[in-house]
Amino acid sequence: MTGATFYITTPIYYVNDSPHLGHAYTSVACDALARFKRLDGDRVLFLTGTDEHGQKVAKSARDAGVDPQAFCDRVSENFRTMTRLMNVSNDQFIRTTEPRHASASQAIWQAIAKSKSPKGRDNLYLGKYAGWYAVRDEAFYGEDELTTGPNGTKRAPSGAEVEWVEEPSYFFRLSDWQDWLLDHYTRNPDFIAPASRRNEVTSFVKGGLTDLSISRTSFSWGVPVPGDPKHVMYVWLDALTNYLTAVGYPETASADFKTFWPADIHVVGKDIVRFHCVYWPAFLAAAGLALPKRVFAHGWWTVEGQKMSKSLGNFIAPQHLVDQYGIDAVRYFMLRELPFGSDGDFSHRAVVGRINGDLANDFGNLAQRVLSFINKNCDGKIPTPGNFIDHDGSLLNMRAGLLPSVRQCIDTQELNHALEFIWTVVAEANRYVDSQAPWALKKSDPPRMDTVLYVLAETIRHLATLAQPFVPQAAAKLLDQLAVPDDFEHRCFKALAAHPLKPGTQLPKPVGVFPRYVETVAS
Ligand code: MSP
Repeated sequence: MTGATFYITTPIYYVNDSPHLGHAYTSVACDALARFKRLDGDRVLFLTGTDEHGQKVAKSARDAGVDPQAFCDRVSENFRTMTRLMNVSNDQFIRTTEPRHASASQAIWQAIAKSKSPKGRDNLYLGKYAGWYAVRDEAFYGEDELTTGPNGTKRAPSGAEVEWVEEPSYFFRLSDWQDWLLDHYTRNPDFIAPASRRNEVTSFVKGGLTDLSISRTSFSWGVPVPGDPKHVMYVWLDALTNYLTAVGYPETASADFKTFWPADIHVVGKDIVRFHCVYWPAFLAAAGLALPKRVFAHGWWTVEGQKMSKSLGNFIAPQHLVDQYGIDAVRYFMLRELPFGSDGDFSHRAVVGRINGDLANDFGNLAQRVLSFINKNCDGKIPTPGNFIDHDGSLLNMRAGLLPSVRQCIDTQELNHALEFIWTVVAEANRYVDSQAPWALKKSDPPRMDTVLYVLAETIRHLATLAQPFVPQAAAKLLDQLAVPDDFEHRCFKALAAHPLKPGTQLPKPVGVFPRYVETVAS
């Protein structure tokens, strides 16, 4: 352990929907970051879960003809299953209907209720909300943000229909937080990433903030407001608080809270940036709590060029993806195909291109030809290297630089670049096989052949070790084939330098780990 800690969260998923590609993406990206940090020696808390309150969930339960709790129990389980399916290594799965979460939400409410705004006024006051609300987004919108649809219906920027709401409500004095927030963004340039999102949030806040309605009275599916149970808390205040519940809030003296709060990173989709970068920091600061160090917003997937939706029939269930392509191929594709932060398109052609190109032809072929050659020509034992020569130098140098390069990408959430670095070394290793031609050395210079094969086996060990966060199953199979003991000590990043392969180690019979995707032609 490095002594460092790392607290990472996904958004918690609304239980009105079934898990789909977009949810799987957020989870897998966070998983790669969490796995990397663990292998790098950090103590990690990786949180995911489900967002179960609010008008949208209440309506979905009503439409399904079941009581909201029973509805949440059922759908939440689908998300838990999705995380297992995607091989996501979350440490906690939180549900906002858990009693511990009601306590945390009420505690932050009470802390806000006692607090003053940066302008010295009460942060919380009772009033009446009269304005627009989009149930699908669970968000309030100003008149100036709306557009009018073809049949005269008003729509939020997200495309969600809005309805007029008029009801008694508690308000959070967000309007007093404008300068405070702008100052926070300026003093903490890493708080919002990527830069495009930071600019978007900054200009939204510069445009002026209105006070935020933080309770509802027209339905009851939520956390009751302390002291005024006719109101339930606005679902986003309740939902955001999950990040605190998981570390033991309101017990701020607890070991988990002291170890993990403030969170190192909240990873979110670009659609929910406003909640995480404007409302959440203001709520936390009002409650006297430290702010998360960073909010990273990723982009949005379309499917074969279209927005994913049930009505278009292009809704992609994670189970379908895994059945069709295999778990590691799906994870690799998602993380490699687009810069984390940008939008991208999920197309069958692009997935197959990555599977047959990067995975089968490049990495798979490298491992297969080196390990089969060792199996046939060295009694299946790790060969003993002699002296390295200049030809080996470039590969050895690239290999040595890999961990620092990948680490830097992880720290800036450039997941696709992390994979590009790894694959640059895959390509260099393939070139090295071709230029050093161990099959020719077998006759002309067997000791040199042993050196070349040792360099290659060690390179594959490096590559597999660093690929673990992204393609955990395939990487583990590769390490098994190099007879690397299956424990943290031998598979963590320290092992790269600490536990080189031992010459003479007997290897198991090699098997392919990255199969080609073969189209089945309908007959
Ligand atoms: N419940 C809120 C989050 C509360 S966090 C305190 C929510 N839930 S959600 O289920 O609608 O979305 C969860 C995540 O999935 C969001 O980060 C969202 O951006 C992401 N995605 C949903 N559809 C997506 C795509 N088509 N593409 C990429 N990610 C998308 O928001």
